[in-house]
Amino acid sequence: MKEVNADVLVAVGGGSTMDTAKTIATIMTNGGCSRDWFDVKLDAQSAPVICVPTTCGTGSEVTFNAVITNSDTRLKANIFDPKCAPVLALVDPELIKKLPASMVSSTGIDALTHAIEAYVCTVATPITDAIAIKAVKLIVENIVKAAKKKDDTALSNVMLASMMAGMAFGNADTAGVHCIAECFGGFYDIPHGVTNSIFLAEVSEFSMPGNPKKYAEVAEAMGVEIKGLSDKEAALKGVEKIRELCDELEIPKLNTFDAIDPEDFEHLAEASSLHCCNEHNPIEATKEQYLAIFEKVYNE
Ligand SMILES: [Fe+2]
Repeated sequence: MKEVNADVLVAVGGGSTMDTAKTIATIMTNGGCSRDWFDVKLDAQSAPVICVPTTCGTGSEVTFNAVITNSDTRLKANIFDPKCAPVLALVDPELIKKLPASMVSSTGIDALTHAIEAYVCTVATPITDAIAIKAVKLIVENIVKAAKKKDDTALSNVMLASMMAGMAFGNADTAGVHCIAECFGGFYDIPHGVTNSIFLAEVSEFSMPGNPKKYAEVAEAMGVEIKGLSDKEAALKGVEKIRELCDELEIPKLNTFDAIDPEDFEHLAEASSLHCCNEHNPIEATKEQYLAIFEKVYNE
């Protein structure tokens, strides 16, 4: 940017691309390097960024934060301030038409995770709820057709839902699944959407007793028949629906990744319990509870 004396950045890509652009834009006007701006208020408005997402998961085109991996700690860190929000999001489903089915699936489930976590987290509001629950419905109704058939309407609905989910979690928060995904993603460099997809069902089952009513509403939005069921019964059927969806979309299992070593789980469980989103999970999980989730999912 300095070399060409640019005053606007256009980011065309997935979450990493857009977050990199938001970080560069922040450094341009605030100085220093990315690590100077983790978890602190920005001094100045970031340079203008126009975001053009080419996946259907991140929502970064409409959020106030940029997630950057700190290669020293192997943890992901956040620049979080409304001053780094993009000035314009150009969201075009045409751009995901040639995306491999596996990428539509995993980034689509990332968006579903954003929507569910925004809805159930302890800082949800009526406004974020309205956006989040509609995003849940749109993703579950369309994700299979979008990934496997590249149906135009389905791709458009998933792309729209991804952006809506970004609006929802950007103004509420994410929760336990993202605590895990960001720790695994920083440590092993495995794709964010894949990690979320692997853990979404198990973390939902763990967290459900913290707010059964909301998880029952999520189940209903996913098209689960909940008539006559208690909130807990409905919520558990919702968890089953997530498992079925991930199977149908052929989400890989955790133990198929060569890089993953269960010896690291203790460290990753501690990091997940210390993640900033953990306190907003319906049940704030301990290190031991995260460890139990990792072991269960790894041995599935
Ligand atoms: Fe995410």
